[in-house]
Amino acid sequence: MIRRACQGVLVALAASACSGEETEERDPPDGPVVVHLAEIVDEAGEGAVTIELDPEKPQSIEIHFDGASRVIELAVDGATAVLSGLAGEDVGPPVEPAANGAWLRPRAVSADVVVVEPAAGASRAVIAARGGPVPAARRERSLVWTEPSVLDDPASVGLGRVMAAISEDGHGGVLFDRWFRRFATTLHSERAAPAQLMDEIASTHGADPGQWDLDTLPFKVTGVHNRLDLAPRNGACGELRVSIASTHPIYAPLHLLFLFRQEPQADDVSPSGETHCLGTARRWSRLSSLDGEAFTVAAKAWLDRTLAHDSFLLAESVELTVSPWEWRQWSPVGPDELDNPALFQTVATPLVNEPGPLRDELLAFVEANAAGLDARTVGIPSQLRAQSARVPPSAPAERLSLEGLPASVLGAFPKLAERIEIVGCPTCHTTNANFVQTNVDRSFSPFYDVELDARAARLDSMHTGSPVAPPPFGPLQPLD
Ligand code: HEC
Repeated sequence: MIRRACQGVLVALAASACSGEETEERDPPDGPVVVHLAEIVDEAGEGAVTIELDPEKPQSIEIHFDGASRVIELAVDGATAVLSGLAGEDVGPPVEPAANGAWLRPRAVSADVVVVEPAAGASRAVIAARGGPVPAARRERSLVWTEPSVLDDPASVGLGRVMAAISEDGHGGVLFDRWFRRFATTLHSERAAPAQLMDEIASTHGADPGQWDLDTLPFKVTGVHNRLDLAPRNGACGELRVSIASTHPIYAPLHLLFLFRQEPQADDVSPSGETHCLGTARRWSRLSSLDGEAFTVAAKAWLDRTLAHDSFLLAESVELTVSPWEWRQWSPVGPDELDNPALFQTVATPLVNEPGPLRDELLAFVEANAAGLDARTVGIPSQLRAQSARVPPSAPAERLSLEGLPASVLGAFPKLAERIEIVGCPTCHTTNANFVQTNVDRSFSPFYDVELDARAARLDSMHTGSPVAPPPFGPLQPLD
């Protein structure tokens, strides 16, 4: 029996999403089961077919490409399988074991016919076509958008759109006003300028921030950033980030970053339940083949999907409204209220450098986790982090001291202090970067420039059919 799945859905992964299935009964054939991909795909080249197999009687499956190179994915229930090109063509890395069967990670294949040979015990195979070969990532399409046609269209993205998305009231003016006034009242750091900016806006735009037209305020979108490279951290397909900078003549430099989670879709999860994000990776890469109006429309559709209230994670700020530069994160803590959590992965250097219990705790933690900290795979506990970090504009930042650690640890990991520092906000923003990564004119720091190449290489590697290692904390680019 061949059960033909609805198009665009890998049935084994998302049977519930599939309705109106067409079922085709037929006598068990003696020869191989033959699947012509052209017959199962939609206009985007996507589609899937489920083949019920007799576990007692292994039966091979021929997949015919009929002259079209396509990305294919295969899931087998109950046993493993071998995949080969009928004429000996390269079909990429082998099938991988999965929870109760096997999985062929998506990859482009350009053979005429490939043969799947399930082992005895296989009860079902799902063959999915995932579109044509994936184009190489172009930075300005698949990694970071700076096009005015997208960034300067408030219907696509802008302060108004982003604040509306992250607020409870769907407007965001009240949240924006409270947020900027909070800079002045936090105990760990009190900064008056953002609150003064709110006073100024109230005097020109009216006392009720709920009535402000946020798109007329002196702010500018500087970039939309694809952070798929963070996947699969937190079970997400990375983040989409919007950077917005102040263009005010006095209250600047002041840069904000809004982080939205990219939710995994059905084709981002393996038969074993592993979130691999290869579907989202293909969708990002395919934007590289678009230009002009087609790109603008696709980018807007992407933003429409992602700038959603439930996907908002948190905001970040880096500013010099008063010296020194300061970094903060802003998490939702109540309806239309943001506040500062301990900065992600940022050791509170000035505090932990002081002798005392906190320093003792830092040294004990570093000693116990030296290898993982050196490899940038270990999370730093919140009590060792601060809610804000500062670096003067024209003097080097205070360095983390690891004096007191056993010589054997320091000898084994001579760059340990640097590795701990680089995963935190201030060091990463001042290493080949002049405090800011995306400038008001939408140009990038040298650090970000190199980072984008590393992210492009990682995105491209996701389409090859080989597993991609989880990313370390901090930079993706290799360090010295
Ligand atoms: C690995 C290095 C690195 C670390 C660590 C880091 N950033 Fe960034 N930051 C970047 C890059 C690169 C960008 C550009 C957008 C992106 O790639 O996400 C950026 C963008 C920003 C922006 C938007 C303005 C700009 O500079 O482009 C803000 C605000 C920001 N980061 C704040 C923070 C805060 C707060 C922390 C600490 C919790 C932090 N960053 C940690 C590299 C880093």
